[in-house]
Amino acid sequence: MEKNVDRIVWKKEFSVGIPEIDDQHKQLVGMINDLAETHDAEHIFDAVMRMYKYADEHFYAEEEMMRRNNYPLIDKHIAAHNAFKRKTSDLAALDYTHPENELTAFVFLCDWLINHILTMDMQYKEYCI
Ligand code: FEO
Repeated sequence: MEKNVDRIVWKKEFSVGIPEIDDQHKQLVGMINDLAETHDAEHIFDAVMRMYKYADEHFYAEEEMMRRNNYPLIDKHIAAHNAFKRKTSDLAALDYTHPENELTAFVFLCDWLINHILTMDMQYKEYCI
């Protein structure tokens, strides 16, 4: 099954205006692009796990930043991060020799990341810059 996707190209609209966080988001976008380019089951599994681990580190940094700045929507944001980690943990259990699982993982990770940056992450911008 082909993913038929283009690489995600970083756009200025993705920037939350905090260089450290933008750099972390760029790393995550790079991981999505890596996932888009492989069909090898072991590579896919490794890419999903790498993304889980890096996202966990990124979420920690972001949540600390939100705490330091008394961001009022922090609880909702942390809940979204935790939901992502639970779902990505479930993805780690999939058998990536089945192409439909490859597509499931790719679509979830890609959609979640971009939607999360463009909605929830953008909301803390005015509090944390
Ligand atoms: Fe950049 Fe809330 O994750």
